[in-house]
Amino acid sequence: MNIPSLPLPEIEALIRAAGDIVRSVPDEVRNNPETKEGSANFVTAYDVKVQEFLKEGLSRLFPDACFFAEEDGVSRQTIGAGYTFIIDPIDGTTNFMCGYDHSAVSVGLLWDGKPVFGGIYDPYRDEYFSATAGQGATCNGAPICVSARPITRGIVAIGSAPYRKDTLSETMIAMTADLFRTFADFRRSGSAALDICHVACGRLDAFCEPVLSPWDYAAGSVILSEAGGISTSFAGNPLDLSAPSSCVFGSPLSHPAALAVCRNYAPVTESIL
Ligand code: IPD
Ligand code: CA
Ligand code: CA
Repeated sequence: MNIPSLPLPEIEALIRAAGDIVRSVPDEVRNNPETKEGSANFVTAYDVKVQEFLKEGLSRLFPDACFFAEEDGVSRQTIGAGYTFIIDPIDGTTNFMCGYDHSAVSVGLLWDGKPVFGGIYDPYRDEYFSATAGQGATCNGAPICVSARPITRGIVAIGSAPYRKDTLSETMIAMTADLFRTFADFRRSGSAALDICHVACGRLDAFCEPVLSPWDYAAGSVILSEAGGISTSFAGNPLDLSAPSSCVFGSPLSHPAALAVCRNYAPVTESIL
């Protein structure tokens, strides 16, 4: 792939500055959301503000780029020729609203539809995860890689697909029980982007969620693949970056076991997508 070189320090500075905005919002301001489509799907004024901040800064660096950004509404989310940024301004909005300090800013970049870069910043731990295709993954500049733990000693994170409670809660609970029996234990963090980063740096062994959207995993899947991990849908296919998908992320040791469980639920998740 012949892609122009990227202004990585400027992109990092922008993503970190967006995270600093997230971290500095006072509690009384955050807990005042509006609701979006689906159940328990909230948006705060800061999801919109941070998205605008990122789009403005990235447009200055990349004047011709397209944007596929969570708070823009489906009709304005486009993947174009050349550069497209896929943005989740605050991944972990419910955590953000409740003062549970575990959220991130996530920015993926495609070139002619192919993922070339991911940058995710956790402003609470001050951790910036990033990767450029073919060049490995880092956290705060230090190389990262997935774990080499066997599943019997590993942790699987679960995403609860909270916006599809009406159709997927039984599936999610059954899948969680099966994964709990397969791994040493399970976790539920509330930020898919950070769950993927934590698989990439070996803190977690796998992460599975019945439905996620491209802004939840575009950046993370580049970081994970550059860290030696694997990303697929529940059916075992590569992730679609233009539409929602079921997702299994894992180290080479854990992904096959997590996928073997999740495959049983693929007919249900595929039927609602
Ligand atoms: C959500 C978080 C959560 C996951 C949801 C996502 P948001 O993103 O990543 O962990 O379970 O499916 O939608 O709405 O906070 O950006
Ligand atoms: Ca998200
Ligand atoms: Ca979000």
